[in-house]
Amino acid sequence: MSTQTEHRGLFVAVEGPDGSGKSTQARALTEALRAAGHEVVLTREPGGSDLGETLRELLLDPGHAPVDPRTEALLFAAARSAHAVRTLRPALARGAVVVTDRYVDSSVAYQGAARGLGEARIAALNEWATDGLVPDLTVLIDVDAATAADRRDRRAAGGEGAPDRMERETADRHEALRAAFLARAAAAPERYLVLDGALPPQELTARALARVTAQAADR
Ligand code: TYD
Repeated sequence: MSTQTEHRGLFVAVEGPDGSGKSTQARALTEALRAAGHEVVLTREPGGSDLGETLRELLLDPGHAPVDPRTEALLFAAARSAHAVRTLRPALARGAVVVTDRYVDSSVAYQGAARGLGEARIAALNEWATDGLVPDLTVLIDVDAATAADRRDRRAAGGEGAPDRMERETADRHEALRAAFLARAAAAPERYLVLDGALPPQELTARALARVTAQAADR
């Protein structure tokens, strides 16, 4: 399985709804890849660059609610554009493995599906914003609504802070988000690894690591 891309490195996105455990997996995958000797840049969206992190604060601040869905979609795309130019492309050009906690599929699911702006339109906006930078692999952590709600509750009880603006507003749209993520994966199965988020965390990391290692060796 040989993938033709414009860059030397390997671009991996970790995606899933709130409460899927994707941030934990992005960190664990990064540590495992580093232990195996790879140079890994771990980054996140919204954020991932100075300008992007400033936009993140604005986007997630409950004080700005309600934000018009189009305004929101453009701000996420603006943060992503800065992320691609400042962080992702330079790291990929020098041959690093880049692991990003969320990327374009989050906008397609949250703004396109959950906010109702249209998945195709949001995909096109983001293709433009990133100048066509597509992950070599997207690890999608799929969880049902009950599991995700349970994880969010435990996180809140564990003192990890109040839910951000997006979490508050989209918690009841879990199935719409989930369907949108799965549709993206079904449209390009060779570029996705869909994992059952109910599996033990170590198992999820092992499966993601095996796939990334295989793709890295194939380049
Ligand atoms: P994230 O930092 O991943 O939150 P958490 O680590 O708590 O899961 O993302 C913050 C929120 O922003 C999350 O609810 C998803 C939302 N989001 C969008 O709506 N669109 C996007 O393009 C991105 C990247 C995130």
